Amino acid sequence: MKVVILNNAAEVAQYGATLFSKQINRKPNSVLGLATGSTPVAMYKQLIDFYKHNQVSFRNIKSFNLDEYLGVSGDHQQSYRHFMNEQLFNHVDINKANTFVPVGDAKNPIEACEVYEQNIKSSGGIDVQLLGIGRNGHIGFNEPSSSLGSRTRVKTLTQETIDDNARFFSADEFQPHLSITMGIGTILEAKQVVLLATGENKAQAIVDTVQGPITAQCPASALQLHPDAVIIIDEAAASLLENQEFFRHIERENQKLEQSLGL
Ligand code: PGA
Repeated sequence: MKVVILNNAAEVAQYGATLFSKQINRKPNSVLGLATGSTPVAMYKQLIDFYKHNQVSFRNIKSFNLDEYLGVSGDHQQSYRHFMNEQLFNHVDINKANTFVPVGDAKNPIEACEVYEQNIKSSGGIDVQLLGIGRNGHIGFNEPSSSLGSRTRVKTLTQETIDDNARFFSADEFQPHLSITMGIGTILEAKQVVLLATGENKAQAIVDTVQGPITAQCPASALQLHPDAVIIIDEAAASLLENQEFFRHIERENQKLEQSLGL
């Protein structure tokens, strides 16, 4: 696991966007795994800025989002499809036909999950998967107790996640309690996974992810098994980690190495 501790949320967004744009420039037809939530928004803004300055093009990119609410259609204001259009896709040159988000209003959600898995496979697999993390350590909507080998499926949200996401819904609005989410097994198959976390309220989840035992009680701890997992966090999210100086030292050394190799 590579743990990158940065000074603030703006630096986390910049680092994440740079990593994604380097990936796209290395492989213009990359398959990206994308995420919703508040954390990736600043990174998407930075990517839009890179695109506007001709530093990156999404023309040949394919993307798969982690999850979607069950029972909402893609044109619903609260759907993750709508979020992705608003926060990224509408502002760059991506072909929307090549952007995939689980179908929240599928007639047969179970079948839709299988189709989603097949689609990822036939696209050659995900090159880089972006992740946020819940306060309870969830990735995608894989809540604590999710099988670490799980695949794309229908999942029930915990009350904690429902409460955390209530801020996006108005008081009288229907808030789904079910979702379709890629599984932890699906996420672990991405060639690289990049997790962003900022703020003190993520500090315990980050300790459990990086230092804790690998356990279904903290789904993100499964990333310890991934050969190329990058955890990009600000000081507040890193605040409970032991060995912070060691992680900073490794990052300084990595930067020197990358510069000397011209990467
Ligand atoms: P957040 O959500 O970025 O809005 O904190 C992250 C998540 O729940 O995965």
